[in-house]
Amino acid sequence: MKIFLVILGLALFGAAPAFADMDKGDVKIGKSLHDKSCIACHASKYGEDGSKMYTRADHKVTNRQQLVARVKACNHNVGTGWFPEEEAHVEAYLNATYYHLK
Ligand code: HEC
Repeated sequence: MKIFLVILGLALFGAAPAFADMDKGDVKIGKSLHDKSCIACHASKYGEDGSKMYTRADHKVTNRQQLVARVKACNHNVGTGWFPEEEAHVEAYLNATYYHLK
């Protein structure tokens, strides 16, 4: 199953270097990147620190692939220009703090 997901991930996001592994991401760096670029818009929708975006009952991200895809999509929308390693830091932060996906 894991192998299947990896292959699916590769098929969806292109060759391997296009995304870094969130397990290698640094939660602290991820938090500072996230707080700088991502909170304002989520907070304008959900108030406070915007974290309800991740914890609302019907939140969209329910597996790691979706987390990677969503961070990539929001990153792209905002135009932060993060490198894959920086996306991995933010994924690590969001997973450690909110999603706890295995
Ligand atoms: C311009 C507004 C905006 C900005 C800036 C933004 N987002 Fe989002 N984000 C959204 C919206 C709207 C949704 C909800 C989409 C939905 O419900 O389908 C969302 C959803 C998400 C989710 C999925 C939450 C769930 O349902 O589990 C993640 C993860 C996420 N954003 C990460 C980020 C990251 C990382 C950044 C910073 C690079 C960021 N977002 C910046 C608008 C934004």
